[in-house]
Amino acid sequence: HYTIDLTVDVARNMLDGVTTITAHAMQPLSAFNLDFSGLTITRVTVNGQSADYRRQGSETTITPLQPLAAGARLTVTVAYRGEPQPIRDPGVPFVPLGWQRFEQGIAVVSEPSGAMNWFPSNNHPADKATFTFRVQVPKPYQVAANGVLADTQDAGSSTTFVWQMTDPMATYLATVHIGRYEVVTADGPGGVTLRHYFPLGTPDTVEARFARIPQMMQFMTERFGPYPFDAYGVALLPVSTGWALETQTLSTYGADGADEAEVFHELMHEWFGNSVSPATWQDVWLNEGFATYFQWLWQEETEGRPAFDATVQQAYAGLVSRRVGPVLPQQPAGMFTAATYQRGACTLHALRLTVGDAVFFQILRTYYERFAGGVASTGGPAPVR
Ligand code: ARG
Ligand code: ZN
Repeated sequence: HYTIDLTVDVARNMLDGVTTITAHAMQPLSAFNLDFSGLTITRVTVNGQSADYRRQGSETTITPLQPLAAGARLTVTVAYRGEPQPIRDPGVPFVPLGWQRFEQGIAVVSEPSGAMNWFPSNNHPADKATFTFRVQVPKPYQVAANGVLADTQDAGSSTTFVWQMTDPMATYLATVHIGRYEVVTADGPGGVTLRHYFPLGTPDTVEARFARIPQMMQFMTERFGPYPFDAYGVALLPVSTGWALETQTLSTYGADGADEAEVFHELMHEWFGNSVSPATWQDVWLNEGFATYFQWLWQEETEGRPAFDATVQQAYAGLVSRRVGPVLPQQPAGMFTAATYQRGACTLHALRLTVGDAVFFQILRTYYERFAGGVASTGGPAPVR
């Protein structure tokens, strides 16, 4: 479990934080590493005692006073401060990652490696954990994060927002949005709370782009079972972007929102991507190929089979003419490309055409049931290290 306690000077984008990690040692440990980049560490403790630490790039090696036995429970606290520096990742050269300031407000978008610029973690998609976020901001700012808003504490000139993510979550999906919002709430299917964070001044036409989320949730629920978490919604950044991100239970969008296909895509990731998440980054087609294919299935549902067939044909022709490579990328730059999205989706379609609809959807349900709340991987060549 990560408890991330932050006091945020929003105007200066300065953090004063303590992250507390509770964990089990899987083997005897004389030392262990956390991923953490940039911010100044002021103190580290393990089980209540100060611990030595050494930093090298984003690796922080912590040496507790006493070695830890296999199976030992440990509580690690890391106190830190400073201004987070955006992470540059070759998987997404076009977006700075992690905690970042925008002209009005602050937000976190991390996939794949950005989480390490604002809290120390085992920043690997396979090591999922539950989270508590306690974020103190000056008034009148509000804070949205993953999960459920469990408490709001008023301290005069500031407010502390406490958010709880009680289901396992990969570090790359952790998000915090700080700004001034119109919060729109509603009851979703099956008692799931919907809460959307729209920056003040968001036009009605942008909010309307998310209006069909309840029907989309119903569509996914009928095929795979209930929405996997306690709440869902979207948070919009104060700037336009060319992308969105499936931050768990609170999808992140640019200020203009997105079209219906992309809204479906990000919602769908809650089942495939967030509940079932990739064991390694090389498995990212299990996120993007599935989300892309289900966008097409939503089109089949809403526009009919001819529209769906035309989309598949067009995607397939594009893959052939551009000689798009296999779904398992061989380098980071291949993570978010037509290989993982369109070829991933066409791979699922090839399976459907081979085994027929009934077996195909049974396979997907079995896959979901088997790996929900955990991680999945693709057989094949060993991951590139
Ligand atoms: N997983 C995102 C999607 O739904 C990919 C967006 C790429 N941007 C990023 N910061 N990783 O397609
Ligand atoms: Zn996606």
